[in-house]
Amino acid sequence: MKLMPALRSSEDMGSFSLPDAEVPELEFAGIKAQYAALKSSIAPRLAKVFEHGRFIMGPEIEELEAALTEFAGVEHAVGLSSGTDALIAPMMAMGVGPGDAIFMPAFTFTATAEVPILLGASPVFVDVEPRTFNIDPADLAAKIDAVKKAGVLRPKAIVPVDLFGLPANYAAIGEIGNREGIDVLADAAQSFGASQNDQRVGSLARVTATSFFPAKPLGCYGDGGAIFTDDGDLADQIKSVRVHGQGKEKYAVDRIGLNARLDTLQAAILIAKLPRLASEIDARNALADLYDSHLSDICVTPLRDPNAQCAFAQYCILVEGRDEVQQRLQEAGVPTAIYYPRPMHFQAPYEQYGDGPGSLSVSEELAGKILALPMHGYMQEHVADRIGKAVRAAIESV
Ligand SMILES: Cc1ncc(COP(=O)(O)O)c(C=O)c1O
Repeated sequence: MKLMPALRSSEDMGSFSLPDAEVPELEFAGIKAQYAALKSSIAPRLAKVFEHGRFIMGPEIEELEAALTEFAGVEHAVGLSSGTDALIAPMMAMGVGPGDAIFMPAFTFTATAEVPILLGASPVFVDVEPRTFNIDPADLAAKIDAVKKAGVLRPKAIVPVDLFGLPANYAAIGEIGNREGIDVLADAAQSFGASQNDQRVGSLARVTATSFFPAKPLGCYGDGGAIFTDDGDLADQIKSVRVHGQGKEKYAVDRIGLNARLDTLQAAILIAKLPRLASEIDARNALADLYDSHLSDICVTPLRDPNAQCAFAQYCILVEGRDEVQQRLQEAGVPTAIYYPRPMHFQAPYEQYGDGPGSLSVSEELAGKILALPMHGYMQEHVADRIGKAVRAAIESV
């Protein structure tokens, strides 16, 4: 594991204070630590952009897209302005609109659900599996049947989410998609860099969306995202959508589009960071192993899928008395976060798309117990050990 910079004093760490006098800062997502390690490769990349001045669709966009296709093992990658736009652009290209049902897990970030609604379609919330936290294929099949029976909406697409970096069950989901004749659009905002059955995320569904939000496994220094696909026609349509529906000629418009371009400066940053991603994911997995060794006998730790390498965007445990445990850890100077405190069907604007409390019981239970611990690829082992001990002490005290 690699070095964490910056020091903080242990004096203000309360009753769970970490033992040493000089304790490296407990960064939650390691953005500063990563910058310290990579700034010598990022700086010249940025300087090059300032010098050529092509801030919109500069040469770094194509360079990054080529590197991303190679990394993910797919034919096409298209840089976009955010992970949210990486969901909306393919849905626009796929013609998602009023009357369409888009199936997705209830336990996800809002962006997954807002996108179909913006296009006039309806999200259909599916429960998740209690151990992977990802969409439950059995409930997915049941929800598709229910929509078909009701006869109001047309099943149009499935949007699995690789929550916290663990790829969803793409074999089972793909089979359901094929059987029903509906598309799979993977929301891999949290899992770029992960793999399943030796295939990298990006190649596991017909089209995959990811986010380069700074705290994601591959993050830029602003907003950014991309899609991945082997379908050249779809990639071309998404490229058109990202520039206002532009056709082959500059002012010929083929379709309704967006301004959804990835920024050249962000592409330059990502080009500098991508070569480190695989080793960072290994380091995240090593940190997860270490946390497991401290915690797996006293709380639910993340499931390890022997057929996958998780990107560990987050390392989340399930604990009783979660809010109190979090409070104790805050007092001890250990940053934590709750992803997510409520499932989608409990969020006011989305209630109308759900069936109320009790209808998606696993998602509802997870929201009350989930707690994310500091996770990144630059944490020193002794710091991770101290966090593991502090979390254990906090759980035991509640
Ligand atoms: C599951 C999921 N989907 C979509 C998004 C949207 O990505 P962005 O913030 O880059 O628009 C995120 C980002 O947090 C996410 O976690």
